[in-house]
Amino acid sequence: MALCPRRVVAALKLLGPGGERAWARQPRITGGRRPISFSAGASSIFGSGGNSRKEKLLLQDVAELIRTRACQRVVVMVGAGISTPSGVPDFRSPGSGLYSNLQQYDIPYPEAIFELEFFFHNPKPFFALAKELYPGNYRPNVTHYFFRLLHEKGLLLRLYTQNIDGLERAFQKLTVVTENFHASGIPASKLIEAHGSFASATCAVCRTPSPGEDFWADVMVDRIPRCPVCTGIVKPDIVFFGEPLPQRFLLHVIDFPMADLLLILGTSLEVEPFASLSEAVQSSVPRLLINRDLVGPLAWRPRSRDVVQLGDVVHGVEKLVELLGWTEEMQDLIQRETGKLDGQDR
Ligand code: OAD
Ligand code: ZN
Repeated sequence: MALCPRRVVAALKLLGPGGERAWARQPRITGGRRPISFSAGASSIFGSGGNSRKEKLLLQDVAELIRTRACQRVVVMVGAGISTPSGVPDFRSPGSGLYSNLQQYDIPYPEAIFELEFFFHNPKPFFALAKELYPGNYRPNVTHYFFRLLHEKGLLLRLYTQNIDGLERAFQKLTVVTENFHASGIPASKLIEAHGSFASATCAVCRTPSPGEDFWADVMVDRIPRCPVCTGIVKPDIVFFGEPLPQRFLLHVIDFPMADLLLILGTSLEVEPFASLSEAVQSSVPRLLINRDLVGPLAWRPRSRDVVQLGDVVHGVEKLVELLGWTEEMQDLIQRETGKLDGQDR
């Protein structure tokens, strides 16, 4: 299953009618705005999207389902919008999103920064972005800590993230990306990094794994990391468009039909196959979207048990936490974790 931007066709138009470059002449999807690959499969694999129950749910109903443990297999799907309160730009927000601010990288169209062909043609823009996103430059916010609480209360079945900033796993500031990255925060077993992460890197030519330390040492001084075996470019294990998703994603995707509550936060649901997973929960399962905009299948194929909390993600999460009666616990957790981060900074 390969990563597909649903806007590839639109993005290509930015090149103009010439479109002479090889990497730009190969649209990978042709189906317009709606996903064509996984969504069809999702309904056949996981059951139809029909509405079996009719009552309209509100945010307080979702809180009640969690608080009373009527729902105990919560699946969470997130995207870049949960990290904007931490200072990491998202991709598609007009003006502030990365894709509106790529002029300095000299790329032909926004998604090129995550395309292999362009990467081999010119890896510099990607590594400039990698330097900017260096794990350790940013801190988790209340949204990440909310997932941690869900986990500590035994309610989190799995957290699926599209983010490559590592903030779900790193509840401590990191100077070096290592395996014990998972030591605090959400354990690796609960986390699916659907678009990969910067925690490991591999030679793009001979596939030799590269130690994280070497990789970052190069990136931080604006040097392209090279493989000691074949001198090929070392690429962090971020999933580029057209590349398959990590095996962990495929192994765990069965979580969705088993979930009894789906939370979706901070994503435009523009990229497949991630977006269609929002349709892979049973039709009776409530789906709560906390996001600035109404997006993806929740916009164009809503279900009767959908709950939509539009606006700032931190505000939405704080409201939910309050309805859950977890505010004090949340404050304690944040204070403890912030204390650790401050300690490391000294
Ligand atoms: P997008 O930038 O496409 O979408 C972010 C969503 O979060 C948008 O709907 C924003 O309106 C919303 N948002 C941003 N800040 C918010 C805030 N403070 N409160 C509430 N909502 C907010 O990011 P993703 O959906 O994660 O691929 O993008 C998916 C993939 O596209 C990424 O993983 C990336 C990109 O190409 C790779 O990294 C390989
Ligand atoms: Zn190599």
